[in-house]
Amino acid sequence: MLKEELDAYAEAHSTPETPLLARLNRETHLSQVYPQMLSGHLQGTFLRMISQMICPRRILEIGTFTGYSAINLAMGLNSSPIPGERGIMHTIEVNPEQEEMIRSFIRDASMEDQIILHIGKALEIIPQLDETWDLVFIDADKPNYLNYYHLIFQHVRKGGFIVADNVLWDGKVLGDSGKMDKDTRGICQFNDFVQNDERVENMVLPLRDGLMIIRKL
Ligand SMILES: C[S@@+](CC[C@H](N)C(=O)[O-])C[C@H]1O[C@@H](n2cnc3c(N)ncnc32)[C@H](O)[C@@H]1O
Repeated sequence: MLKEELDAYAEAHSTPETPLLARLNRETHLSQVYPQMLSGHLQGTFLRMISQMICPRRILEIGTFTGYSAINLAMGLNSSPIPGERGIMHTIEVNPEQEEMIRSFIRDASMEDQIILHIGKALEIIPQLDETWDLVFIDADKPNYLNYYHLIFQHVRKGGFIVADNVLWDGKVLGDSGKMDKDTRGICQFNDFVQNDERVENMVLPLRDGLMIIRKL
């Protein structure tokens, strides 16, 4: 059985994308040079579901792209069992050319009051955010994964979650460490550090390009 066939079967047996997410997915493929950066239907649904399980009050996303994962994650902001409690998400994108598209989809999703978009370098913006995170999604420049982890760690609440995308990096993490490019090296350093970090429990979920799920103890 081919992996593509199994992926198609899994998608066909998962709740379909909402019309808005399907449109965002399609417009990303029509307008972006690297549309494969978008999380996609299965991973987007997974992110939405873990957000709904965690019932976060504060989410941080590093790497917005066109806003697909942001909108999925933000769907968990209103799952609190406390009546009227609605969380806030901060999402950071370095590329100002993405801003218009992201904002238009946030508007169409009626999430302007819950998703705060920052345009700029994540390493500069994160220290300005005075929040305690329940959930952090790391999905931007790979050489900085470990820097992001160090920067956010003390601001993640005990029992909070950090999820990092692309931790299998198309299988390149298995390559010869002496010949790795800097993205692959960044991912490997991150994975190795987390694996030896006694402050957390963690697992690699081999969904799509690999998600590292980390729970702060
Ligand atoms: C893989 S894409 C994010 C995909 C998105 N999370 C999704 O699932 O649909 C990575 C994004 O991170 C952005 N990025 C790269 N370096 C960054 C930085 N230093 N600070 C913030 N964003 C950055 C890129 O411009 C790109 O849009």
